[in-house]
Order: sequence, then structure tokens, then C-alpha cells
Amino acid sequence: MNNKYVLEKYSPFNGIEDFYILNNEYIGEKYFLYSTPKVNYSLKIKSNGYVPKSGLIYSKIISNIVKDKKILDLGTGQLGIIAIHSLYCGAKSVKAVDIDKECIDWLNLLINENNLENIETIESNLYDKLSNEKFDIIFSNPPQMPMLSGSKHDSGGEDGRYFILRILKESIIHLNDNGELYILLFDFLGTNIQTNNEESLKNIGKKLGYSKIEIVLETPKIIKENSVTFQSLEHIKKIYPKYSFKEINGNLYFNIQILKFIK
Ligand SMILES: C[S@@+](CC[C@H](N)C(=O)[O-])C[C@H]1O[C@@H](n2cnc3c(N)ncnc32)[C@H](O)[C@@H]1O
Repeated sequence: MNNKYVLEKYSPFNGIEDFYILNNEYIGEKYFLYSTPKVNYSLKIKSNGYVPKSGLIYSKIISNIVKDKKILDLGTGQLGIIAIHSLYCGAKSVKAVDIDKECIDWLNLLINENNLENIETIESNLYDKLSNEKFDIIFSNPPQMPMLSGSKHDSGGEDGRYFILRILKESIIHLNDNGELYILLFDFLGTNIQTNNEESLKNIGKKLGYSKIEIVLETPKIIKENSVTFQSLEHIKKIYPKYSFKEINGNLYFNIQILKFIK
């Protein structure tokens, strides 16, 4: 009885079909699984640890773009899901950066347990410990909830753009020629069009010197009661007055996007 594992599909977004959670509640063990004919892996989840959600939409693009590339994952999280997925999909090398020592310690344990090679973890405040190193592709799913205070996994400062602007500014220095920055963004922050009196993130990217900027993926995110977004809703509406949350079946939603910024 105690060895009984329960396998459940884990698909927080439409079109995310290949992730599973393997759970044995008797012995308190939980694994995060990705399973397709070509690529499969399992990662042990820390007890009461973080289970990726929005970052999983990267799995829809990673396999088509990372082969033989040098990759950086900025804000990799406890399971390093974007970094590890890239590695299993054929990246040449991967660096996984996080400011949170707990994330880096757990990720190191997963790297050892799974005998992973060509992946390095770095505990760093964004690019601080990367000197002038350059990459072919940079991925990031940065904290971006507009909030005055909150967890370092969610809070992007008062307007949610604090880390995004730093990443846009600093990444261009760390990309090889024609290198690509992929950044996951909430559309209410003014990605493609202005949603407050500040410029759209796309325009800011152009001024910083990126040659081409495009939305490569977009998916709706329902705002669930008691979610961090739900709790920040009034604040978001105040900071981004030109944005209207849409409604479906009585639920408000916004769009999560992945934007590509080409150097
Ligand atoms: C939204 S989570 C994304 C985690 C994972 N990449 C995913 O997609 O599921 C943001 C991550 O960025 C990290 N982070 C926050 N501030 C950072 C900083 N200044 N430098 C590096 N990482 C940071 C947090 O610790 C957290 O792991």
C-alpha cells in the first residue's frame, strides 16, 4: 500500500499535454514528469516545493529552437524546468541562474540525481555573476506581478516591470549576434500596446537596439479566486488603466505571452 504512486496529468494550460505529477502521499514523495516518445524525464519535487505553472508554456517552443545552442535560463526556479527541458531537447550547454539559494540547492540535487551534464547553476542577482559571457538563447519567466511587496517568485515591484526592464536592458550585452531573448510576459503590463502612460515593452525593446520583436506564443490565463493576480487586481487596474480584463464564462482572464527579442 505504501508503495502506491498515483499518476495524474498536469496541464495548467490548454495545449500543455505531456506533463504529469507522480505522487505517493504515504511516503510524501512527489515527482514532476515529462513524457513524450522522444523526450522524457522526471524531477523530484521538494516537500512543499514549487511546482511550475506559467513557465510550462515554454515547452511548446523549446524543442524547435534549442538544438546545439548555448542557453541561459534567468530565474530558473526550484525544478529549473526551462533549463532542464532545454537540455533534454538537445541544447549544447545550459546555465541556470537564480537569486534564491534554496532553488539552486534543490536544482543541484536534481542535476546529481539525474546525472545531468552540460548544465551549470549560478546563484546570482540576474547577470551579476556572469561577467561578459554571451549566449545564443536567453529564456526568462521573471517575477512580474505588480505589487508593493511580496514573494521574490512573484513580485515585480509596484508596476511589475522592474525585472523585465532590467532583463531587456542587460540581455542585449549577453547575446551573441542574432541571439534571441525569450521572455514570458503578462499582456496587461503593456507588451505590444500601451496600457498606461509608459511605453509598451515592445517599443522599449526597439529603443534598446533589438532588431526584431514578436509575440511567438499567447495563451489565456483565468484569474482564480485567491490567486496572487486576484489579490493584486485592484492595484493592477490602478497602474494599468488602459487595460481591460476580458471575461469568459463569468471568469476574468488575461493573456500570457512569450515575446522574442532578436539582437
Ligand atoms: C516566476 S518564477 C519562474 C521559475 C521558473 N523559471 C518557471 O518558469 O517555473 C521567477 C524566479 O526568478 C527568481 N528571481 C527573482 N529575482 C531574481 C533575481 N534578481 N535574479 C535571479 N533570479 C531571480 C525567483 O527566485 C524565481 O525562482
